[in-house]
Amino acid sequence: MPLNIPFGDLKRQHDAIRAELDLAIARVLDSGWYILGPSVSAFEEEFAAFCNTRFCVGVANGTEALQLALTALGVGPGDEVITVANASVYQAITIVAVGARPVFVDVDERSHTMDPAALEAAITRRTRAIMPVHLYGRMASMDAIMAIADRHGIPVIEDCAQAHGATWRGRPAGSIGTLGCFSFYPTKNLGAIGDGGAVTTNDAALAEKLRRLRQYGWERKYYTRDAGGLNSRLDELQAAILSVKLRHLPAWNERRRAIAAMYHTLLAGAGLVLPEAPSEGEPVFHLYVIRTAERDAVQARLREEGIGTDIHYPLPTHLQPVYAPFAPPGGLPTTERLAREILSLPMFPELTDDEVRAVAMAVREVVRTKNQEPRTDTNIRSFVE
Ligand SMILES: Cc1ncc(COP(=O)(O)O)c(C=O)c1O
Repeated sequence: MPLNIPFGDLKRQHDAIRAELDLAIARVLDSGWYILGPSVSAFEEEFAAFCNTRFCVGVANGTEALQLALTALGVGPGDEVITVANASVYQAITIVAVGARPVFVDVDERSHTMDPAALEAAITRRTRAIMPVHLYGRMASMDAIMAIADRHGIPVIEDCAQAHGATWRGRPAGSIGTLGCFSFYPTKNLGAIGDGGAVTTNDAALAEKLRRLRQYGWERKYYTRDAGGLNSRLDELQAAILSVKLRHLPAWNERRRAIAAMYHTLLAGAGLVLPEAPSEGEPVFHLYVIRTAERDAVQARLREEGIGTDIHYPLPTHLQPVYAPFAPPGGLPTTERLAREILSLPMFPELTDDEVRAVAMAVREVVRTKNQEPRTDTNIRSFVE
């Protein structure tokens, strides 16, 4: 009998806190106020406190959080923004949307995050922002990145969409760079029941500008001050839901770390490359991503076993046809190799210990039998690691 372990299951989370959610939703319905009202203000305060920043501005989604962050910093045509190509196309979309040029740099093989040496080498006099991504819930090497950024006087936009609550030397994601951008897409560590996003900052002028930009660039109703504004508002219903869920986030992140620790123990010595926690920070395991050169075969076998997996992400941004004009000459060798080897195992707080054990046993068995098969040209490398 195949197992039935999904890659994710949001219903389990919502069933567990259903009464709290119902109450919050009813309150918004009864209030008669649905856009930019008391629930958004309350959530913004709570989330700023959680991130240890002075300000939080709720917006419609994580992509527009990045775009409005760039606009707030005045990034536009002729400018370059340095980012990574292994975190899907979100960063590139926003950089191109403001008229700037994405400059993709390679990632560090162990952390899957921006390689500071590659960043340093890519800086030119046109560089107007640096956009590292705290991928899979692990923060980028923020000491090195901030040292380089500060030396050149370039602002840093942290992409925190996968890192709500992650820390780097005790400092939360979104509190180290000039601006921190969050997504509250339902599957995120903190997810709405729909779309949502936020930008965090300690800079009062930037926070004010973001508040204008999320609403047409209006200074006051119908009077526009800033170009580049959008309709990008977090709505009252989602804000109220996010306030409920924020109270549970520390426990959920703790559970994700416990699941990661179980996987780590149960998969040790299986011939896979497992994610490492950095000594400088505490990750929040948005995803648990293993590496194997036999990725496609392992994924197919796990599917047959009834275990859901996914790939984050299969095609790096610079290899997507629309972004090919920005591909660096010589490509991004580490990014490209990782894209062929990564596999995300089920990871969500409501996963039971029995399910984690069943996934780990199945992975071990699949890898063991795969290793006994004759090798093909492509499967040699990390299987013997
Ligand atoms: C790293 C990263 N950045 C940005 C985004 C964009 O967020 P959204 O889907 O809310 O637009 C996502 C997720 O979707 C993400 O994972």
